[in-house]
Amino acid sequence: MDNSATPPLIPALRFHWLTPFYDAVVCTTTRERTFKSALIDQADFSDGHKILDLGAGTGTLAIQIKERHPNSIVHAVDGDPRVLDLARRKAFGAGVEIDFHEGLSYSLPYEDAAFDRVVSTLFFHHLSWTDKVLTARELFRVMRPGSELHVADWGRPGNRLMRGLFVFVQLLDGFETTADNCAGRLVPLFQTAGFQDVESSTRIDTIFGTLRLYCARRPRRVRVCVTAATGAASLRVERCRTTIPAATATAAAPAA
Ligand SMILES: C[S@@+](CC[C@H](N)C(=O)[O-])C[C@H]1O[C@@H](n2cnc3c(N)ncnc32)[C@H](O)[C@@H]1O
Repeated sequence: MDNSATPPLIPALRFHWLTPFYDAVVCTTTRERTFKSALIDQADFSDGHKILDLGAGTGTLAIQIKERHPNSIVHAVDGDPRVLDLARRKAFGAGVEIDFHEGLSYSLPYEDAAFDRVVSTLFFHHLSWTDKVLTARELFRVMRPGSELHVADWGRPGNRLMRGLFVFVQLLDGFETTADNCAGRLVPLFQTAGFQDVESSTRIDTIFGTLRLYCARRPRRVRVCVTAATGAASLRVERCRTTIPAATATAAAPAA
C-alpha cells in the first residue's frame, strides 16, 4: 500500500522526547497492570498460538504475554523505531523472546491469515478515522478465520467525571483521533471491517478517563454444500479446504 500521503504517526506520548518517560506515566496513571492482565485473561491464549501485539510501544504487553504463556509465539509491531529500541531492550532484560517489527498498522509486514490472536492496547486513539478503518481491514487480512481480536483503549466515558478527566488525554494526544473512542465508535469500526461477535466487554475507570476492553472474531469461512440429488444448497461453518467468504457463498448459492 502506498503510504506517501499518510501523516507521520503520533508517538507514544505525542512527542518523541517524552518517549523515555512513557512507561512511568502509563504505569502510574492507567492502572496498567490491571487492564493489561484483564486483556490477557480475556484473550484466552493457548500453547502454540501465534500472537500479534499491534502498536506495541515499549513492549510491556508483549512481555507480559510471553511471561504468562511461554509456549506462545509473540510478534510485536510498531511504527516508531525509537520506541522499538526500548521494547527490544526490555524484552532482553526480561529474558523473553519476542519478534519485534517496524511497520504501520494499515500496511502490516505479515502474510494473510498469519495470527491466532491480535491484541492491542492504548493504540487506536492514535489514529484518524480513516486510518482506523484501514487498520481494522488490515487486521482482518492478517488474522486467521476463527481467530480473535482483543483491544483495550480509551472508550465511552463511564460518567461525567470520567469525561472531564479524559480531556487531559485529548490535550496530549489530540481531539480528532480520540473523539471516535470517546463516542464509542470502536465497536462499529470492527463490525464494518467484517468482524463478528464484536463486544465492549469490560470497563476500567482511571484518573484519565474510562478504558474499555473489546473483543471481536474473524468469522470462519463457510463451505457451500450442494446436494447432488436435490440441488439444495446449504452453508456449513467449519474448517474445510475449499472455502469461500460467507457473503460470496450466500450470493452464489442456487435457490433451493
Ligand atoms: C500510546 S502507545 C501504546 C503502546 C503500548 N501498546 C501500550 O499499551 O503501552 C501507542 C503506540 O502506537 C504507535 N503507533 C501510532 N500510530 C501507529 C501506526 N499507524 N502504526 C503502528 N504504530 C503506531 C506509537 O509509536 C506508539 O508506540
